[in-house]
Amino acid sequence: MQQFDVLIIGSGLAGLSTALRLAEHKTVCLVSKRSINDTASDWAQGGIAAVLADDDSIESHVQDTLTAGGGLCDETVTKMVAEHAKGAVEWLIDQGVGFTRTADDQGFHLTREGGHSHRRIIHAADTTGHAVQTTLSEKVKQHPNITLMENHIAVDLITARKMSSSANQPPPASDYHSDANACLGAYVLDKTSGKVITIAAQNTVLATGGAGKVYLYTTNPDISTGDGMAMAWRAGCRVANMEFIQFHPTCLFHPHAKSFLISEVVRGEGGLLKLPDGSRFMLEHDDRLELAPRDVVARAIDFEMKKRGLDCVYLDIRDKPLAFIEAHFPNIYQRCLSYGIDISKTPIPVVPAAHYSCGGIMTDDKGRTDIKHLYALGETACTGLHGANRLASNSLLECLVFGQTAAADILSQVAKPSPQLPYWDESRVTDADEEVLITHTWDELRRFMWNYVGIVRTDKRLSRALHRIHMLRAEVDEFYSNFKISNDLIELRNLLQVAQLIVESAISRKESRGLHFSKDHPQTEAEPIPTVLEPLNYDSLLERKAG
Ligand code: FAD
Ligand code: SIN
Repeated sequence: MQQFDVLIIGSGLAGLSTALRLAEHKTVCLVSKRSINDTASDWAQGGIAAVLADDDSIESHVQDTLTAGGGLCDETVTKMVAEHAKGAVEWLIDQGVGFTRTADDQGFHLTREGGHSHRRIIHAADTTGHAVQTTLSEKVKQHPNITLMENHIAVDLITARKMSSSANQPPPASDYHSDANACLGAYVLDKTSGKVITIAAQNTVLATGGAGKVYLYTTNPDISTGDGMAMAWRAGCRVANMEFIQFHPTCLFHPHAKSFLISEVVRGEGGLLKLPDGSRFMLEHDDRLELAPRDVVARAIDFEMKKRGLDCVYLDIRDKPLAFIEAHFPNIYQRCLSYGIDISKTPIPVVPAAHYSCGGIMTDDKGRTDIKHLYALGETACTGLHGANRLASNSLLECLVFGQTAAADILSQVAKPSPQLPYWDESRVTDADEEVLITHTWDELRRFMWNYVGIVRTDKRLSRALHRIHMLRAEVDEFYSNFKISNDLIELRNLLQVAQLIVESAISRKESRGLHFSKDHPQTEAEPIPTVLEPLNYDSLLERKAG
């Protein structure tokens, strides 16, 4: 058993920033299932939202966030995040992140994205995430108090309740936040040796990112398999608003481009959406045109593609001079050029793709979950900031602000030694006989989630999806019980769990709001109500529904 003050699972912006804020005072173990920079954070393009301009205000940032969130944002949390944004950006600048400056070098250049009433996105050209990720990861690698474990995948959390004899009985609701259900660490598979190690920690932080890989088409990297959400759910945490999956309107449409985003700042700087005949169509969908919030733009594109039988629509930035394009979007320009598309001369073919999980593990304003000593930060969490639809560039900001509040909360605790934890028991499993079940199930899941639980939903499509998930889960659970675990099996099991939570949440929302649009329930109810799933009552909820 290895022992640390804090175990952080995930090396994206949430994990790295929390680790650096803790490491002066605590021993930290940072676990990452691939290499340290293999994260969604590294892929972020547009930037970080913060009120930095004189003509902007915190109230306006809060209002834009609430408007995008469709009535489901927590106003107190939103205000707290907007107020901390400037400090969070200054912290990054102190760490050495080189944000793009204005042409006259008088300050930082601020760009614009959909739903924002002001220019307030600080960025490093169109590779903001890479600049932030690599700056912080270099600091993490050099810190003497941080033990970095790359190529290690967390399998499950270890809780006091799981270790006690009452593990199979439903605990009383009073178990939330009590020592009886505290998190004590996690089991982690060393992917190189194939051994599962036990890591004990006084506090455990889930910073495992989103779940975009549950869909066939996504802007997300391969690591985004919802592991943290699934682990927290199995351990007894509530999840909220899982139905609100954000589809980014403009992912590059090209047979050889896997998951390449065309940043919203291309529209922010004047890019226009067009049909193949060159006509604009946003005029018919929303007054805010190309800069309407993402749910509106993604639905408009989906509508036009289905109505006209199109494979894609086009994003046209040809009005801007080449020098402007090269200065503002160097990465997008070069990447498109590598596929034979010169965006200064040709409109960019684009389609919507799954981009961001607005829901996740329920937390308070310090990132604390229902389980004592377990925190959830970044995309895996549902803090109340995003409501029914996240405002562009509020995600990196959320990672930073909650990394700070969670670290402060952890630092305020009195240190306690960890108890001895049980080892992972592999005595009853054998090597897997064939891997085809994993690849086939993964493919099937992502395809029907795209077709049945996508941008536009119906009751029938959702219940079909749920039926299939139940069948696949039964097969995969059996496989999991009988064979040695592998990275792919762990991820598939988690993806199926998260898919079920998304579909259950979508089924329970009998209205359309934000990112959840149902043809059978197109109305928006007067009272916004979050969808909260409780694992403690989940089985009885399903039984009641079946009955
Ligand atoms: P991630 O950065 O995804 O990191 C997750 C980490 O957890 C990884 O290290 C992963 O390996 C690890 N992990 C996961 N499961 C396990 C496990 N079981 N065991 C061990 N390790 C595990 N947001 C903005 O605000 N502005 C933008 O401009 C922006 N652009 C984006 C562009 C793209 C293409 C994408 C995909 C997203 C963008 N977003 C943007 C969203 C934003 O990047 C993410 O929401 C954010 O980076 C999530 O950070 P995170 O730290 O929560 O997770
Ligand atoms: C983008 O650059 O379009 C992505 C920004 C975000 O997801 O916040």
